[in-house]
Amino acid sequence: MRLATTFIALPLLFAGVMVGAASPASLSSSLTFLYQNDLDWPTAPDHSGAILLEPRNNRAAVSSCEALGETLLVPNGTFFKSDVNSLLSYLNFEGLFPTSQEFWIATKSGGGSCQTISKGADIRDTSCERVLPALCSQSAPFRPSGDQDKDPRFELTISAQDLTVTGYRDHLSFRFLGLPYGNPPERFTYSTLFSGAQKVFNATNFGSQCVQTGGGGSEDCLFLNIFTPFVPGPGTPKSALKPVMFHIHGGSFTSGSANDATFDGGNLASRGDVVVVDINYRLSTLGFLALEDGVTNGNFGIADMTVALAWVQKYITSFGGDPDRVTIFGQSAGAAAVRALLASPEAIGNFSAAIPMSNLAGENFATSFSLYFTISQLQPVAVDPILTETGCNRTDLADVLACLRSVDAETLVNLPDVARFIVIDGKFVTSEQLPVDGSSPVAHVPVVMGFMRDDGAAFIGFPPNSDVTTNIAGVLSSPSAADVEASGLFPTPAGPNSTLDVFNVTARITTDVEFRCLDQAAAISALNHSVFPDIWFYQFNKSYQTPGFDPNAPVCDAPIDAAHPHGDPSQEYFKCHSGELFFVWGNLGQFQLPFRDENDLLFSQLASDTWTSFARTHDPNPSHAFLTARGYTGTLALVKEGGIWEPLGGQNERALRLLDMPLRMSTFEEVAQCDFLGLPFDTFG
Ligand SMILES: *[C@@H]1O[C@H](CO)[C@@H](O)[C@H](O)[C@H]1NC(C)=O
Ligand SMILES: *[C@@H]1O[C@H](CO)[C@@H](O)[C@H](O)[C@H]1NC(C)=O
Ligand SMILES: *[C@@H]1O[C@H](CO)[C@@H](O)[C@H](O)[C@H]1NC(C)=O
Ligand SMILES: *[C@@H]1O[C@H](CO)[C@@H](O)[C@H](O)[C@H]1NC(C)=O
Ligand SMILES: *[C@@H]1O[C@H](CO)[C@@H](O)[C@H](O)[C@H]1NC(C)=O
Ligand SMILES: *[C@@H]1O[C@H](CO)[C@@H](O)[C@H](O)[C@H]1NC(C)=O
Ligand SMILES: *[C@@H]1O[C@H](CO)[C@@H](O)[C@H](O)[C@H]1NC(C)=O
Ligand SMILES: *[C@@H]1O[C@H](CO)[C@@H](O)[C@H](O)[C@H]1NC(C)=O
Repeated sequence: MRLATTFIALPLLFAGVMVGAASPASLSSSLTFLYQNDLDWPTAPDHSGAILLEPRNNRAAVSSCEALGETLLVPNGTFFKSDVNSLLSYLNFEGLFPTSQEFWIATKSGGGSCQTISKGADIRDTSCERVLPALCSQSAPFRPSGDQDKDPRFELTISAQDLTVTGYRDHLSFRFLGLPYGNPPERFTYSTLFSGAQKVFNATNFGSQCVQTGGGGSEDCLFLNIFTPFVPGPGTPKSALKPVMFHIHGGSFTSGSANDATFDGGNLASRGDVVVVDINYRLSTLGFLALEDGVTNGNFGIADMTVALAWVQKYITSFGGDPDRVTIFGQSAGAAAVRALLASPEAIGNFSAAIPMSNLAGENFATSFSLYFTISQLQPVAVDPILTETGCNRTDLADVLACLRSVDAETLVNLPDVARFIVIDGKFVTSEQLPVDGSSPVAHVPVVMGFMRDDGAAFIGFPPNSDVTTNIAGVLSSPSAADVEASGLFPTPAGPNSTLDVFNVTARITTDVEFRCLDQAAAISALNHSVFPDIWFYQFNKSYQTPGFDPNAPVCDAPIDAAHPHGDPSQEYFKCHSGELFFVWGNLGQFQLPFRDENDLLFSQLASDTWTSFARTHDPNPSHAFLTARGYTGTLALVKEGGIWEPLGGQNERALRLLDMPLRMSTFEEVAQCDFLGLPFDTFG
């Protein structure tokens, strides 16, 4: 091996291949990662998963498991019986095996005949020559993100068309990290589908994040991460492929990354049996500069997303994903991106469902995420200030571009002004907003959308004093604060803390004018014009604020008392922006964060089951049969109690799902307030 280092690059890759990670080809089998994930992360180390291989005799099963660095599954461990029973019951539900199917497990030491297990955790002695599917052990340990055990025996190599990719497994799923979906982009040009000479990838580490506000990253950042419970084998039918959840991170289009542990896809993958794809895309001025030169038309970050979607279409089958069931989802700026893609001629056709979460629309900071500038409108807003701040003002736009290309990337994104705005470029984005009035083409796909009850509370400051009028004037230019007060529509609560009472009003107004009113109006208009086959609308009234984003702390955190050292979610507090992410992703464990009460775990199960149900069936109501088969009794009880989440337009035209405990249906809120604020239901016609 030493000799290899005297060569350049290529032999290093050969060296990687020669390490000899197992592969579906070498095992002549698909690999199904089985892990009964209840999201109760403190007990995760006590749940052991298994890797299911296709039928073979016992000797071959033993050696196949060895090739994975494992043994046949040993029937022990605290949760063994119930976990294996649920897992086998799910395989049966999926129609993959009859109920009576036996699977190889480890032979008792000293035992002569071979052993199988079947549903009911029923263990039997049998002839070693039978040809049966095999359950290998899965010993990659549970660790929070950023602390993975990458022992080479956990590596897995797959072929994806022309690519050879080595990823690894952890306790929750197979992971393929840092794959380039686009060619390294030249600054201010559109990305293209990866076509590099490199065909062999060590995908066990994240790729670089994109250069961003706050520092760090590279311009060579068009990477994605894949988390999958299933890797197909030579004979895998299309029907065995899993739904894909294609995630676009938020961060105001100026920050964020696919590598954020908040978006680690392992829990969704194993809990929901979906393939998760997290992508990077270019940010800030590097992602969104547009000049009036006819060439530099902006939306580079959006273009990156469309390229990532095209990559998924081309390659995801090899990672177990079904290219015909790709759900795009994202929160905050990620929701804005989802909406842009919904109407993008460069994306339509490459996804089949969408979940924009907490989309910003309306006034103030929210405006530009849903109402796009023309390229010329962007000039005074962002480009001119950037030219002043960089000293790149030139008569000839070609010189401007050359100058901006010479500015250090890090400097560019940390200027006082940056271009972080979607523009109407005529190719990726063709209308000034999502045409929910049906005036131009939109992907006709089912949509789940909604927000946090107090989404706006993160976008204003805590009042410096308790004067209602000046503080309302501080968050709303029109109608006037006096008119707002006189309307009686926004009464100031009479609590013990007068600045908090004022904040209640300013947060309510801000939630209305930056999220609620226009998101509700957009849904109503889309319904009115049959833009989408179905729209399910939600409001979270439970939240667990991300420690990394906790504005106006502690107002977005459950109040702490003696009985609840981590906060009591049953008390009132603001349910702020990003407060749903841990629940939807099931990722408290990635940060080793505690469950505050007994409902946090149940609610996390519910939220992630709801999101993955939509990805799987295009209906956010997880079927009782599925939940029963999987042993997801917590979610089953909640949805039985909460009834069906009806889409808009049925008996309850303005049906709102209150994602809360208890789970229940309600109806759009703040209707009179939105009318008064000039953002009524018929805003979009
Ligand atoms: C992948 O890279 C890691 C180091 O990051 C190394 O330990 C491992 O051996 C590599 N695997 C292959 C197949 O090259
Ligand atoms: C189960 O048995 C295997 C093999 O003997 C051993 O390595 C493992 O620690 C055991 N696990 C538990 C949870 O007892
Ligand atoms: C969708 O992906 C395919 C496969 O990569 C690509 O050829 C096609 O151009 C993409 N469609 C659109 C609308 O971009
Ligand atoms: C750029 O230079 C031109 C010509 O000197 C001037 O008219 C214009 O205001 C300048 N723009 C900025 C943003 O400084
Ligand atoms: C009012 O509530 C805010 C936010 O929780 C807190 O910072 C402030 O100390 C409280 N004021 C009083 C007088 O309790
Ligand atoms: C929202 O949750 C709080 C507890 O944090 C509860 O007091 C309140 O009644 C809930 N609101 C609705 C509309 O259910
Ligand atoms: C805000 O005030 C309303 C009464 O107007 C109250 O129902 C609600 O619980 C308050 N919100 C918070 C987070 O305290
Ligand atoms: C529904 O559509 C009709 C006709 O296109 C329009 O007149 C009406 O204002 C729309 N209603 C809403 C609430 O947008």
